Amino acid sequence: MSSVVTRVPVFAANWKMNKLVREAPEYVERLNALLGELYSALSFEVLIAPPATHIQSVSASLQGLPIKVAAQNCGTARAGAFTGEISPAVLKELACQWVILGHSERRHIFNEEDSLIASRLRAALEEGLNAVVCVGEVLQDRKAGKTFKVIESQLALFNSAKGAFQPSLLRRVVVAYEPVWAIGTGENATPQEAQEVHAFIRNWLSEKVSPEEATAVRVVYGGSVKAENSGQIMAQKDVDGLLVGGASLDPNTFAAIIKNGLKTRLPGAPI
Ligand code: PGA
Repeated sequence: MSSVVTRVPVFAANWKMNKLVREAPEYVERLNALLGELYSALSFEVLIAPPATHIQSVSASLQGLPIKVAAQNCGTARAGAFTGEISPAVLKELACQWVILGHSERRHIFNEEDSLIASRLRAALEEGLNAVVCVGEVLQDRKAGKTFKVIESQLALFNSAKGAFQPSLLRRVVVAYEPVWAIGTGENATPQEAQEVHAFIRNWLSEKVSPEEATAVRVVYGGSVKAENSGQIMAQKDVDGLLVGGASLDPNTFAAIIKNGLKTRLPGAPI
């Protein structure tokens, strides 16, 4: 259904709760040095998702560079009595254009449910942020043959994030398929397993929204991505990018992941 060339590949580094603020500028400088030339030759996007406390510093280091900063979560409203939450309006103020929502660690460690994630998504989109919305099954579900059922029930959060289905808004969403059993375990989904779920997500969007929108929306894979497997995973026709945790903490490794991914995604490109 999809034409691969129309979707710009996107690679996101999820630092999780790692690194000191003072370590951020050197990372950005190194990553830019490694990717600089590719930017002028190819079309792709790179996001860095540091802890919220680091966003201002990372944003400042990124000034003038094509790399964008992403938050790892955001609140459900612009302002109010929400102790510990981070306003999407403040993220915008800090030049943060993206936010990751519904990450499996938010879902499983902090018990965030689809309804809460939907509220966060609505607030983020209303504020003009772009969102990476994560879905993924736990091992027990996969073993029980319930993967698609779980993914479908998580995707339904788009229904309750009022307005997220408007084509203009959906274009600002990236769906991340992150099988929970593959996150931080070293055990990635096989490229075929990833492709199967990515195609399922795209079909679901095609049915619920429109075939045009489904073709345009980027679906990225996350879960134990490394430089050794990024090429094979990105070779799948419905995989439009990668969300990388542990292996993104080293800019050299993250750059290698991006380059290997782009090599198979854009055959013949000067990488
Ligand atoms: P991982 O994490 O690459 O360390 O498996 C991915 C993620 O949690 O986004």
